[in-house]
Amino acid sequence: MTEVGTVRRSVRERYAAVAAAVSDSSATGCCGPTCAARELDDRGVFGAGRYDPAVTAGLPDEAVLASLGCGNPLMVAELREGERVLDLGSGGGIDVLLSAGRVGPSGRVFGVDMTAEMLTLARANAARAGVSNVEFLEGRIEAVPLPDGAVDVVISNCVINLSTDKPSVLAEMFRVLVPGGRIGIADVVAENHLTPAQRAERGSFVECIAGALSRAEYLDGLAAAGFVDTDVVFTHEVAPGMHGAIIRGVKPLARATTDAGPASEPEWRGLLPLSQVGAAGGCCSSGDQGSCCGASAEDGCCGGSTGPAGSCGCR
Ligand SMILES: C[S@@+](CC[C@H](N)C(=O)[O-])C[C@H]1O[C@@H](n2cnc3c(N)ncnc32)[C@H](O)[C@@H]1O
Repeated sequence: MTEVGTVRRSVRERYAAVAAAVSDSSATGCCGPTCAARELDDRGVFGAGRYDPAVTAGLPDEAVLASLGCGNPLMVAELREGERVLDLGSGGGIDVLLSAGRVGPSGRVFGVDMTAEMLTLARANAARAGVSNVEFLEGRIEAVPLPDGAVDVVISNCVINLSTDKPSVLAEMFRVLVPGGRIGIADVVAENHLTPAQRAERGSFVECIAGALSRAEYLDGLAAAGFVDTDVVFTHEVAPGMHGAIIRGVKPLARATTDAGPASEPEWRGLLPLSQVGAAGGCCSSGDQGSCCGASAEDGCCGGSTGPAGSCGCR
């Protein structure tokens, strides 16, 4: 097996064990595979301690217990009614379930995870919560099983550091977003002066430490993927020189100017297949777009209805 394959297998095994421990209530009080996570949880560094208890109060216990994140991406994602959201590495589903409440019945939330046991736990949690506007998909965050321009917002909580191919993850976030779509990510991020070896001294890959990008590497990677208005803000220290952080960015409405001049509107609009626009629960059917969405955005376009920002080619 290649080194990448070995790392991926150890990540999957670790999170399968955590899911099994949460699912088996008799194991949750012991020092099984969740012990390390629980210790950090107690310090409020990882897990449910990063959320306001009032916000998680309505969730199934199993969803809260399975929380393994290093922040709360919903604090920055500013989700709106009707939006479509993707959670990369959705685990036991805590952020998917919280997002489902924010986007309401006209919105939809997808969770992608590669660990079958986590998907089973997340689906059971959605059933316990009585939530129906969510879907958990088996897949890797380096090759997201959704079409181009499928969502308005990408969130993720302490997962990107676990990827062995981060440029692909950032490119996939860009691909699945509509133009104007945004990211709200929580992740572990290193201070710029720490070398990869120094990061590895502070914790293992599967513990979300050794694979962390530095702040500068994150910003460079987001820019290379095409994101604008990016920032990486440290929120709390998880190890010396390593921080829980919130990462934001936006997929531009138009492609950046090239040597050949700015991309023409039809070219960037092509990033969002028209067939998906009408199905998005937004304001414009593809027929509407053809007849009313000209080169300039009009407030009254498509009857003045207000779909989710970025979900319609005419806004
Ligand atoms: C640290 S846990 C975080 C889970 C969840 N986001 C939360 O806040 O509780 C990492 C999750 O990401 C999943 N994961 C790790 N690497 C992945 C990859 N390359 N593709 C898909 N899922 C991945 C794991 O299976 C696990 O469920």
